Amino acid sequence: MTAMLEVTDLVVAYGKIQAVKGITFSVEEGQVVCLIGTNGAGKTTTLRTISGLLRPESGSITFEGERIDKVPAHKIVTLGLAHSPEGRRIFPRMTVEENLRLGAFSRTENTQKEDLEAAYELFPILAERRSQPAGTFSGGEQQMLAMGRAMMSRPRLLLLDEPSMGLSPLMMKKIMSTVRTLRSQGTTILLVEQNAQAALSLADHGYVLEVGKIVLHGTGKELLTSDEVRKAYLGEA
Ligand SMILES: Nc1ncnc2c1ncn2[C@@H]1O[C@H](COP(=O)(O)OP(=O)(O)OP(=O)(O)O)[C@@H](O)[C@H]1O
Ligand SMILES: [Mg+2]
Repeated sequence: MTAMLEVTDLVVAYGKIQAVKGITFSVEEGQVVCLIGTNGAGKTTTLRTISGLLRPESGSITFEGERIDKVPAHKIVTLGLAHSPEGRRIFPRMTVEENLRLGAFSRTENTQKEDLEAAYELFPILAERRSQPAGTFSGGEQQMLAMGRAMMSRPRLLLLDEPSMGLSPLMMKKIMSTVRTLRSQGTTILLVEQNAQAALSLADHGYVLEVGKIVLHGTGKELLTSDEVRKAYLGEA
């Protein structure tokens, strides 16, 4: 059986400079898989290529058995793959609800009301503030909104780029616990994090990316206890 997402020998370049240098990994349905790595390792580039925002130079990406590496981004969303981007990218002048509705643009079925309710159930604070401009939100609230918006397309695979960036430990816990909830509700998750401890603690499988290459992979547990990961990413001597 093939995995839900198969990335094979993926090379992505900006002009002449390769940011991703031939990586191969997969995400099994129902799992949380994380990509960790330092600044500039190629994590965001990888996610943006999977969701169709960048074109690979070579290699292939298969989602649920279908090649998607030449499919435009707006089509990829309709296949059941959503992306919560680095930096959240919410629309500050629009209300919370308008931001959420944007996430449903690809839905052909008229289920927006139910989808909104599901997002509000996941993050009740979004319901309380549904008419408030999103730009007035704190970083953590904006992260919830970005995740809620991505969930509006009812993805089977959710790409999450650094959801814990800039958040307090408490808010980070909340976001990570939401990742668990989403998995338990049947969403498969590819999580990019600089916070290796938090990500590996909940990931079924993890890959370590260094300057565009996968240098290590294993179960979340294996990576958490690996000497290399502990030294390089968990700040231990
Ligand atoms: N639009 C761009 N044009 C040129 N080079 C880019 C562009 N975006 C990223 N890069 C380069 O590609 C490499 C990988 O960047 P990427 O954003 O994928 O890293 P990252 O692992 O997500 O890092 P971070 O943890 O800082 O978000 C870096 O060397 C970066 O400078
Ligand atoms: Mg990044």
